[in-house]
Parts: sequence; structure tokens; C-alpha cells
Amino acid sequence: MEQKKKRILVVVGTRPEAIKMAPVVLELRRQDWAEVRVLATAQHRQMLDQVLTTFGIVPDIDLDMMRPNQSLPELTARLLSTLDAVLASEEPDVVLVQGDTTTVMTVALAAFYRRIPVGHVEAGLRTGDMSNPFPEEMNRVVAGCLARWHFAPTDASRENLLREGFSDDVIHVTGNTVIDALLQVAELDIPLPFELPEDRRLVLVTAHRRENFGAPFREVCAAIRDLADQHEDIHVVYPVHPNPNIAGPAHEILSGHPRISLIDPLDYLPFVSAMRRAHIILTDSGGVQEEAPALGKPVLVMRYETERPEAVAAGVVKLVGPDREAILREAGELLGDNAAHAAMAKGVSPYGDGKASGRIAGILKRELCGSAN
Ligand code: UD1
Ligand code: UDP
Repeated sequence: MEQKKKRILVVVGTRPEAIKMAPVVLELRRQDWAEVRVLATAQHRQMLDQVLTTFGIVPDIDLDMMRPNQSLPELTARLLSTLDAVLASEEPDVVLVQGDTTTVMTVALAAFYRRIPVGHVEAGLRTGDMSNPFPEEMNRVVAGCLARWHFAPTDASRENLLREGFSDDVIHVTGNTVIDALLQVAELDIPLPFELPEDRRLVLVTAHRRENFGAPFREVCAAIRDLADQHEDIHVVYPVHPNPNIAGPAHEILSGHPRISLIDPLDYLPFVSAMRRAHIILTDSGGVQEEAPALGKPVLVMRYETERPEAVAAGVVKLVGPDREAILREAGELLGDNAAHAAMAKGVSPYGDGKASGRIAGILKRELCGSAN
């Protein structure tokens, strides 16, 4: 008798989840044993939609959760109360979540209440500090507690889970699916979506972390302005995250400078082109810390801690904190010293080989159907 297909509910809420889940969705859709459904919580709206469109994914269910300047408690409450009915009607055999957002934490909890097994993609990342990043460290610890399968991107993330007492047989080192996504698009020749004077080197900036809201983020902006003041041969391009706590001060402090362009968030493909064209990247993003090393771009991370120590250890990412002086000093060194720049532009990919989604599909097949072939 033919076996019933396994129902897999893949959940995405924000831009990075969509980028990192897209290759998983596309891979699972190629499997004859799996029936894939995509649930968008739409914790993000425009930024989520553009990624899903890029990868040709139309959500089967869209909860349209985003509200302007949403708070963590009200987003969590709305999600949790909405998700239960969805899970009850969908009756998936497994729910897949990715990363460390509010979507991930609440979906894992809602699935737990319904006794539906959860697979956690990008499991085991830790700083060991619940305040950094906030609230993501808590989100991934909670999702980890509730998950049946942990798809850890690296050996270090596997070690973190082992240290927390998870047994080896529920942890699978797969690589990070962000590299699958990146390799699928990196060779496309997408033109830069902004004007860049020919004689200027591109400094690409992104920033959005909640723990940096307020004074630390104003320091970051001041550092960027100082940098543009001091280096006439650079142009700073900053696709500003739409969170009002970021967009407000960014425009207030950085608008009007002749060597700074504040632009809307870029679609994924043009953003990859911008990373490829960048001389250096200043960011507090998780995903960018993973992608830029694979593209051979030096990254200064404007945070004091990172759950992604592999690229720091490889010497291609440096932590500078949201610290005006340190950002200026380290960026100045990379702009002024070719050897220092070359040492950080090695092109290493500690986070994956582009085959993570295939591994995840294989593991799920074995776990759900009893065979990986
Ligand atoms: C969220 C995640 C963070 C992740 C980041 C990726 C949480 C708590 N935070 O942070 O872990 O690194 O996404 O970008 O889960 N907004 C829009 N349009 C959009 C998206 C956001 O206008 O497409 C604005 C809205 O005003 C929204 C606000 O940004 O209320 C904040 O969105 P939210 O998802 O709560 O937090 P992020 O800062 O985006
Ligand atoms: N990204 C994008 N457009 C932008 C900035 C970033 O497509 O204007 C992509 C980037 O390539 C990476 C992801 O968004 O894959 C990172 O998302 P974000 O920094 O918002 O979240 P984090 O990774 O910190 O959770």
C-alpha cells in the first residue's frame, strides 16, 4: 500500500527566516514523501513578501501579523492565540521553524501545546547572555527546549546543545541554509540598485538590533557620519531597517551627507550584489555575518558579543561593539591599510557548503518515513 505523505508545515515570519527557509521549502517540494505547506506569520510584511517573491514561494496561510512599531508582548500574545487554531486545522506531522525570532519561539510553543513535533533549523547558536542579543537568545533557548530535531549549522552550535544536555542523536550538523540561498543567487548578475560614484569605495551598512536601540544606535550613526567625514574616497550605502526605532535616528543623524545614501531595504538579490561590490561591511545582522565571509568581504560587527564565533576565529569578522571610537578606528584601518584589508578578505565559508537543505530533507525522511533513500 502506498504510504501517506508526511505533512510538513514550514513557518516563516521575518526576512531572514524567509531567506534561510526558502531553500528548505524548495528542497522539500522535490520530495515525493512530503506534502509541504508554508505558513507566513508575516511578523514582517514588505521585507518578508519580497523574499518570498524572489524565491517564488506563495504562502498557503498568511496570518498578516505585523503592526507598526509592534511590542514584543503584544506580538507574542497575538501570535500565540492565532497559531493554535491554525495548527488544529493543519494537523501537520512536523512543524519546521528557523532561527530566533518571536515567530520561532511562539510557533514552537504553540506546536508543543498541540504535541506536534518541531524541527529547529539553525539550532544551537548561543552567546550565553540573555540580554545579547535581546530577545533572540531567549527565543532560541526556548525553541531549543521544545524542538524534537535540532539542525545545527556548525560543530560549535552542536557543542552548545550537548552542553545543555541534549542527546547527540537529536542533533544534526547540517551547515546553515543561508549558504544554500546565497549560492543559488550569488552568480546572478544583478546590477547595483543605487548610484555609486566610480572613484568611491563602497561601505555597506545594516543595523537593527533591539539591544542597541537608543544611545548605542546613536553612537553607531555618529561613527558612520565620522567615517564619511574622514574618508573622501568612500560612499556609505545604508539600507535602513523600517523599524521606527532605527529609521528615526538613522535619518535624523545621517541624512543629507554627500557621501552617505540612506535607502529602503534592498530586495535580496540586489543586496547580494551590494555585498559583492562592498569594500567593507558594517553590520549587526546575523545573516550578513554568515554571508559576507563566503563572499570574501571583511565585516565589522557592531555588537559586543556574537553567537557566530566561527568567522571571528577565522579572522574575517571583527567585533567592534556599537562603540563610536572602535568602529571608526577599525574601519579606518581597513580603509587605510591594504594588508589589513586583504587579511580579512580571505573568502572562507565556516557556515556551510550550500547543501544544508538536502541534509535536512534527508534527516526528516529518515525520521518520519524510516528511510533516507
Ligand atoms: C525582527 C526579529 C529579529 C530579526 C529581525 C530581522 C524579533 C523580536 N525580532 O526584528 O530577531 O533579526 O526581525 O530583520 O523577532 N517593519 C516594517 N516592515 C517590515 C518589517 C518591519 O514596517 O517588513 C517595522 C514595523 O514597524 C514593525 C517593526 O519594524 O513593527 C519591528 O518589526 P519586528 O519584527 O517586531 O522586529 P525587527 O526589529 O524587525
Ligand atoms: N538583507 C536583504 N536586504 C537588505 C539587508 C539585508 O535582503 O537590505 C538580507 C541579508 O542578505 C541577510 C538577511 O537579510 O540574508 C539578514 O536579515 P536581517 O539583518 O534583517 O536579520 P538577522 O539576520 O540579523 O536576523
